[in-house]
Amino acid sequence: MRVGVLTGGGDGPGLNAVIRAVTKSLIRHCSAQVVGIEDGFAGLQEGRVRQLDWRAVSGLIHLGGTVLGTSNRRNPLMEGEAGAQRVLESAQALGLDAVVAIGGDGTMAIAQALAARGLAVVGVPKTIDNDIVGCERSFGFDTAVAVATEALERLQTTGQAHGRVMILETMGRDAGWIALEAGIAGAADVILLPEIAYDVQAVAAVCRERESRQRFTVICVAEGAHARDAGVVVQEVLPGRDEPVRLGGVAHVLAAQLQPLLDSEVRATVLGHVQRGGAPTAFDRVLATRYGNEVANLVWRGEFGRMVTLQGGELTSVALQAVAAGRRCIPAEHPLLRCAREIGVSLGEPA
Ligand code: F6P
Repeated sequence: MRVGVLTGGGDGPGLNAVIRAVTKSLIRHCSAQVVGIEDGFAGLQEGRVRQLDWRAVSGLIHLGGTVLGTSNRRNPLMEGEAGAQRVLESAQALGLDAVVAIGGDGTMAIAQALAARGLAVVGVPKTIDNDIVGCERSFGFDTAVAVATEALERLQTTGQAHGRVMILETMGRDAGWIALEAGIAGAADVILLPEIAYDVQAVAAVCRERESRQRFTVICVAEGAHARDAGVVVQEVLPGRDEPVRLGGVAHVLAAQLQPLLDSEVRATVLGHVQRGGAPTAFDRVLATRYGNEVANLVWRGEFGRMVTLQGGELTSVALQAVAAGRRCIPAEHPLLRCAREIGVSLGEPA
């Protein structure tokens, strides 16, 4: 059996751990020949592969990024039916019996479209935002939360020293999971999420109240958050990308909104890709390894057109077509929202 492994879309801590686990599992299971496909589906279309043997994947578990490279600037489906057919022809020419695609919802949508055309493909969910439908925990999220939590702690000491309002912008374009968990772990006073449009006056009221007592305030804002009365999200449409990209900016927008309402100085920090790079946490290494091992089992059992996932803490799989659409946002009744409110964290809602 010959299996190709690719990573698509944005990177995230733990991709290499998945590559390592799927390769080792397939070699042990059935002495499979495993090849790494370079730069996602673009590389598959162009037939760019290299062999992955035991040695090639040893020592990868802690490495950030992806040794295979990724491409989110070239979706073969944007070239229409001809693009999809070129991928299928290339997979056949490479002698691949199966393809393992590790990536976010965009990658899963491509995988699903190719599965519908006959490609034997299985998926592993990846997003630091933790917002893939059908997956309660993606690897990389824990690492992003840890990085953002540390940043909040650092902002707290400098904010306290100067009596300032410190704003941290985390990633989270459509879903605010990173901001919510890091905000709680990093003791933010205010957490602003894409799911709850914030009220500037309410945020200012928290800062003013703290000006008179603690002198400083820490605000954790997800990049997709926006004010109730203004469309302030900064988006760019980049060539070749099928969805708009947020270039980072809500922290600065919020700083400009708050400064005239406060005595304290306001400072904004955009954490950006620091959350995506570097070594995965131990939790993410374990989760990525479990996903890699389980997806190898899907290949071994011939269960194609599916994505491995975690539900109720157990590994299972879902049909790719169930994954491809939508985002898993924070539900209005989520217990962490209630918990935040009950311990006195403001979610930017009017009093
Ligand atoms: O989708 C994951 C994510 O981390 C988003 O939160 C963020 O908007 C995006 O990636 C950034 O992607 P890029 O690296 O393409 O700018």
